[in-house]
Amino acid sequence: MARAPSGFLDRHHFLLRRLHSLSGIIPIGAFLVNHLLTNSTAFLGPDHFDEHVKWIHDMPWLLALEVLFIFAPLAFHAIYGVVIALQGRSNASAYPYMDNWRYTLQRVTAWVTLVFIVGHLMHFRFAHWIGGAAYDYKAAYFAFFNHTQSGFLDLLLPAWVWVAFYAIGTVCAVYHFCNGIVTFCITWGITIGDRSRQYVSVGAAGLGVVLCAWGLLSLYALVRFPPSDNRPVGHGRAERTAQVERGPGGKLAP
Ligand code: HEM
Repeated sequence: MARAPSGFLDRHHFLLRRLHSLSGIIPIGAFLVNHLLTNSTAFLGPDHFDEHVKWIHDMPWLLALEVLFIFAPLAFHAIYGVVIALQGRSNASAYPYMDNWRYTLQRVTAWVTLVFIVGHLMHFRFAHWIGGAAYDYKAAYFAFFNHTQSGFLDLLLPAWVWVAFYAIGTVCAVYHFCNGIVTFCITWGITIGDRSRQYVSVGAAGLGVVLCAWGLLSLYALVRFPPSDNRPVGHGRAERTAQVERGPGGKLAP
């Protein structure tokens, strides 16, 4: 006999699943794409990058918008995602079909993305919570990968580890999102037949390749092009340097 639903999660299972699915595309997926686009302005040089980041940070009601459209949906998707991931069982080794591998990879990339997002936020946005320098959006470019030491975490790990961390995190987040587009279309009944699923799979794979290349090239730009030394004082650099010198690790890299 079927078990009667008990507990909040059981009773609202359908709604929670749908909200989880939707939040993965809008707003989180949309934010991911936008974030990668913002990062790619690094190719235009440090000043363009900082200018763009500053434009975002000068938006009125930024904190409210961030909480409403990024942090809250992300927290919901991640927490309920952990619940789902702990419930599901991978059968990719017993039945090595493509769909089973994709199911398993969706969960593996979920865990990696979770670690990546927490690490990324602690590295920059909330570094001051753990003894680092406060995030200075006027010198966001300057903060990357040993252009300066932004605090405790930078001192803990060498720059190449951070670059690898960002590269792996970016690829996993993009895979998770793009494979998620395919399962989203199934969840919402957008793709019903095999053929339409194949079309969406090919489109999502194409998008995944473009976003990965985009994200990794931006990372390359952020690491490769050093910020110019003659940036005007007050553009963030001087304040940041002073902050770091006063910070816990104290000493700047040469
Ligand atoms: C960049 C951040 C993220 C994006 C853009 C994203 C996007 C998505 C999308 C679009 C789906 C497909 C929804 C569906 O099948 O209907 C999905 C599924 C999933 N996500 Fe995320 N996600 C992100 C982060 C996370 C995190 C941090 C976790 C937590 C561990 C997580 C756990 C899951 C799980 C377990 C599924 C599979 C759900 C199922 O099989 O029904 N996601 N995600």
